[in-house]
Order: sequence, then C-alpha cells, then structure tokens
Amino acid sequence: GKSVAVTADSAQPIRGELSVLERCRRCGLWENATQAVPGEGPTTARMMLLGEQPGDHEDLAGRIFVGPAGQVLDQALQRAGLDRDQLYVSNAVKHFKWEGRGRQRLHISPSPAEVQACGHWLREELAQLEPAVIVTLGATALTALLGSKARLADFLSKPFLWGQTWVMATWHPSYALRVENAARREEIVSGIAQALQMGWQLAN
Ligand code: URA
Repeated sequence: GKSVAVTADSAQPIRGELSVLERCRRCGLWENATQAVPGEGPTTARMMLLGEQPGDHEDLAGRIFVGPAGQVLDQALQRAGLDRDQLYVSNAVKHFKWEGRGRQRLHISPSPAEVQACGHWLREELAQLEPAVIVTLGATALTALLGSKARLADFLSKPFLWGQTWVMATWHPSYALRVENAARREEIVSGIAQALQMGWQLAN
C-alpha cells in the first residue's frame, strides 16, 4: 500500500498516518474517486497551505498538487524562495469530485455539505500541526477554514488572526490556468507568491 509507517521522528511526513482517511464515507465523493488524497509535509511545519480538492492527476497519483495547478503552485513557491518540503500542504476536501465529459473528467466544486463533512479531517490536521500560519488557496479553502461562506475579495492578501493562527488568503493556482490574458496571469502568480512570502514571514 501507500501508507507510511509513523515513527518518532517529528520530521517524518504525516502522509499515510491518516490511512483511515482512505476508508472515509462521511460524504458520497469516495464513490467516484480513485482514492483519498491526504495532506503532505512535515509535522514540524509552521506554515500550512490549503487547497480545494484533488484534481484529475492527484486522484490518480494519490499525491497532492502534482498536476497543472501544482506546477503553478511550485512556480509561486519558487518566486517566494520556498520549498514545498518546508510546508504542510493539504486540501479542504480529500476526494476528487468530477463529471464525465467525453473521455475527460471535469472538476466540479464541492458542495458546502461536502466541505463540512471533510472538515473532520481538516480539524484533525490542524490539531496535529498547530500551524502558525495558514495560506488558503481560493474561496473554498477560506470558506472551509472559517466555517461560513467567505468572499475571497474581502480577505485577499490581508493577513488576519483566526484564533492564534494567522490566515493569509490568496487565489487558487488553477485560477491562473483559466485566465487567457498573460499579464493578468502574471499578476495572479505573483500575487500568490507574495502571499506565500508574507505568510512565511509571519510564521518565522
Ligand atoms: N487543486 C487543489 O486544490 N488541490 C490539489 O491537490 C490539486 C489541484
């Protein structure tokens, strides 16, 4: 299997520790998904990134942000001078929600009920990690964290305290992939990079 033995080494990724996640039936998304995609990163990470849900590539690989959105994320991280393995990266929803269109599997946004059901796993991750900073990628991640519908525009790029934790809201990397205009795309990637950099400063 893909599960990783948990050792006393605190730098050991917690990926695999949530293997019971694979058997999650808290909502119906497991039925059409290949597998659950857990968060990844060291338990010692002070900063957490929160995406929406696995995409097509992630669903097949069982690994988070390995598809096109992940490439944009890596680009933004590189600009911010950060490595993915310095961070814990997770999604608000752990199973891929999609509809068939010909041979393609097209992403569908998770419903509020699905986001809420998956909050069980998010709370577990937060309790284990106690991150100093959470950078939310897109509106779903922000809404999942705050527990009520949030307008991304109201929070964008302004860090705020959520309990003891700094939250930094930015765009989802896949937004850059949907934008045609190259200058606008560049604005989005650099906006994400700035949010990551500011988050890192708050975490350290
Ligand atoms: N988009 C996300 O929000 N998360 C992933 O893991 C991949 C794409």
